[in-house]
Amino acid sequence: MTATRTFTRVMVTGGAGFIGSNYVHYLLERHPAYQVVVVDKLTYAGNLASLADLDGDPRYSFVRADIADEAAIDAAMQGCDAVVNFAADSHVDRSLHDPGGFIRTDVHGVFVLLEAARRHGVRRFLQISTDEVYGHFPQGGESVETDRLRPRNPYSAAKAGGEMMVNAYVETHGLDAVITRGSNTFGPYQYPEKFIPLMITNALEDQPLPIYGDGLQRRDWLYVRDHCAGVDLVLHRGATGEAYNLGGGNEAVNLDVAKRILDRLGKPHSLLRHVGDRPGHDRRYALSTAKAEALGWEPRHDFSILLAETIDWYAANQPWWRAIKSGEFADWYAKNYAARGVHVG
Ligand SMILES: NC(=O)c1ccc[n+]([C@@H]2O[C@H](COP(=O)([O-])OP(=O)(O)OC[C@H]3O[C@@H](n4cnc5c(N)ncnc54)[C@H](O)[C@@H]3O)[C@@H](O)[C@H]2O)c1
Repeated sequence: MTATRTFTRVMVTGGAGFIGSNYVHYLLERHPAYQVVVVDKLTYAGNLASLADLDGDPRYSFVRADIADEAAIDAAMQGCDAVVNFAADSHVDRSLHDPGGFIRTDVHGVFVLLEAARRHGVRRFLQISTDEVYGHFPQGGESVETDRLRPRNPYSAAKAGGEMMVNAYVETHGLDAVITRGSNTFGPYQYPEKFIPLMITNALEDQPLPIYGDGLQRRDWLYVRDHCAGVDLVLHRGATGEAYNLGGGNEAVNLDVAKRILDRLGKPHSLLRHVGDRPGHDRRYALSTAKAEALGWEPRHDFSILLAETIDWYAANQPWWRAIKSGEFADWYAKNYAARGVHVG
């Protein structure tokens, strides 16, 4: 039986991003006595509006810092007994345009955090990784944690590099670290460059929905609260040095997901626009989750309900995503999609 750890002060890096902000809320709900220090650089993907309800909560503090900044991380980690690292450059398409930034954050940044964790005697370090480190699994079958990592794009290669650094600190410094490998995650507060919120928000704006290639790529969709529950379980109960797959058990074809979104919003399928595919686009991911389930993880598998709830959230929270779409997003969208034949503007 694995022992359950408890902590007093948890550093959550990347806590202003999509999964990180959901996790900060989850952590404080599940462990009301914990203190949480959110460290975030507030890149284009970081959004303090996602944490606004915590302003004034004495358990919560925010530090704006880059995880690759040694001095800032050293100061912020004072008194923390656990670190959960969500901070990352996280969008595959952007890693095709600017891979250097991904190496700085997803590899070097992890190293800076690990060094600080070692110096501060942090009792547990959790690295948030991704199913993409396995590369794709075009035919049937599922990735298990012992599979060889075969990342196929700069994002997933950088994430695999971060994992290797974590392993090195477990082996050479005896750091108590664990890794989670989540599958494609969806839910409230996701930056609208990602597939599901992009489809929903474009549909709400009556804009074309860009579908890469034939749209028959398959993803295993994981609801963000289920992802957070898995992370929390591994943080408290995972075995040192182990990686845990967190998959949603909701395998779906991208084109079908886009159609379901249009149907829910009462929009025509004529908004679907097939565009040039992403180079090296992974065809399919699928995870075995037996190891996390043996630890006690119980994700909800009702994709239809969770997708509908998510669509309704974006429909009801338009100021949140409209503020994003009118900013840096517009430049990114033009750069990524105009060349693929999507009318922008
Ligand atoms: N979204 C998914 O489907 C998914 C699936 C599996 C794993 N993951 C992993 O989960 C983590 C969170 O993903 P997300 O979708 O919430 O990402 P996100 O892009 O929404 O958020 C990333 C956050 O990290 C911050 N950040 C980026 N670089 C930083 C730096 N150098 N220093 C400090 N903060 C920095 C950003 O400001 C942002 O708040 C990532 O590590 C990602 O690899 C994501």
